Amino acid sequence: MKMFLDSAKTDEIRYALDLWDIDGITTNPKHVKDSGKPFRTVIEEIAGLFDGTTKEVSVEVDPNLADWEKMVDQGLELSKISPNFVIKVGVSEQGFKAIRELTNRGVRVNATLIFSVAQAWQAARAGAAFVSPFVGWKEQYGDPVESLIPEVAVMLENYDYRAEIIAAAVRNSRHIAEAALAGAHCITAGMAVYQDSFRNPYTTMGEQLFQNAWNATPEQ
Ligand code: E4P
Repeated sequence: MKMFLDSAKTDEIRYALDLWDIDGITTNPKHVKDSGKPFRTVIEEIAGLFDGTTKEVSVEVDPNLADWEKMVDQGLELSKISPNFVIKVGVSEQGFKAIRELTNRGVRVNATLIFSVAQAWQAARAGAAFVSPFVGWKEQYGDPVESLIPEVAVMLENYDYRAEIIAAAVRNSRHIAEAALAGAHCITAGMAVYQDSFRNPYTTMGEQLFQNAWNATPEQ
């Protein structure tokens, strides 16, 4: 399962590339705003960090764009900045058409803001390279979430769609486990979620126990 960092902060991305060897990143307009930099500046800086790699960088078109032609124009323009860029398009009637057109023109698309199998199906049949079901958002609003990724996985397999699932808006280690067990191809989460997932109280307890034993062992 590919490990994407969900961030547009270059210091975080650098850290995760160096220490974790992440497979790429996903950005969204919220992450770009949180970077504190203008959109174009930050995505060009990010492109530089991935230069010479085959890692994937999802960059979202302006969510204010209401018709597919404009999404396609902007997607094409963004895709010229870096071969690593995957263009993120929000799912909607116009969005599905934009996904189809971009895909036909050789641009890889990440269909974002997916909350149902029906939306994932439309994105996959439009040719999306990635579909992103948002696990954490669904859960936050009280919807049952366990079946979303497994059902999307079955749908893709039933029809041999090539789209990779990105388990998105992942909030904790349980979400990571559920995505992996359901066969998601990729996961995207923020720094803190991954850092939490590295830890476990039993591991900490065990380390302490072993350190004490090591220190109490006679040297010769
Ligand atoms: C995925 O591609 C999205 O960027 C992301 O997971 C959105 O969720 P969040 O920013 O609320 O975590």
